[in-house]
Amino acid sequence: MTIRTLTTVAEMSGFAAEARTRAGRLGLVPTMGALHEGHLSLVRQAKSQCQVVVVSIFVNPAQFGPAEDFARYPRHLENDLERLHCLGVDAAFAPESREIYPPGFSNYVDPGRLATLYEGALRPGHFRGVATVVLKLFNIVQPHLAFFGQKDFQQVVILRRLVEDLNVPVRIVVGPTVREADGLAMSSRNAYLNAEDRQAALVLRRSLERAEAMTQAGEEMGEKVLEEMRGSFAAEPRAQLDYAAIVNPASLEAVERVAPGTVALLAARVGGVRLIDNLIFGAPGTSPESRLSLVFAG
Ligand code: PAJ
Repeated sequence: MTIRTLTTVAEMSGFAAEARTRAGRLGLVPTMGALHEGHLSLVRQAKSQCQVVVVSIFVNPAQFGPAEDFARYPRHLENDLERLHCLGVDAAFAPESREIYPPGFSNYVDPGRLATLYEGALRPGHFRGVATVVLKLFNIVQPHLAFFGQKDFQQVVILRRLVEDLNVPVRIVVGPTVREADGLAMSSRNAYLNAEDRQAALVLRRSLERAEAMTQAGEEMGEKVLEEMRGSFAAEPRAQLDYAAIVNPASLEAVERVAPGTVALLAARVGGVRLIDNLIFGAPGTSPESRLSLVFAG
């Protein structure tokens, strides 16, 4: 017995329509597959809050730039399906590209200014592709709840804005970042790192820890904290910092002062692999979940 795997839009929307009439809440966890504990934590969260859970696995060509890793992005469909089955997921949606972008496809979502900053500035068109596919998934599945990870902080902010601006009837739930034992945020792209770069990649987490420690010791000036964060990178020649910013979590505009609920965003390249991470500032000892609720209440 394996998990029910749907590959067409018609099958997926049929299954979801039936589930909505039969059961209480329908949850969707959108992914690009190569599932790791970060994804699986969202699946578990979905299972705990919804009667029926659908996980989509689709490496979305529209969110990759021409020089990016679409072709070599890891694909482990059989293994992913097995893991979802073990977690009791009700259905997987694993369409081919032409099912989502058939010939003649021509409408894209423009997320506006939020998509021009940080990741969007370095990956033009990325969030347009993300917003387009996620809105399509919302329309196909029509879930009550959809689950996304804090790891991709800017993505969550953009998708929450999308849902609000376009009156999409779904509630976005955000799960905390899951890390490897040594603190590296889990990512499908970590598999690209060689042993030395894997070690060097810890600089992202280290710089966020220094930012956290500084603010807990009373530093409030964003620029001081950023200096400290940049200092961590200066000491790690294998890593090139793309950006470090301390921002308001709704507008993503830089803020001068760090306060509970402001967010440090980081992106760097290590051995040619792009990595991102972030930290929500909070009072000493506050859990990742309570920090998330500071930012994404309601
Ligand atoms: P993907 O990178 O596969 O991630 C799927 C979901 O898992 C996203 O919501 C992401 O934030 C979350 N996630 C990834 N790593 C995580 C970690 N270490 N801890 C917690 N959550 C983590 O993000 C995408 O796919 C795509 O852009 C998608 C939304 C599916 C649209 O194509």
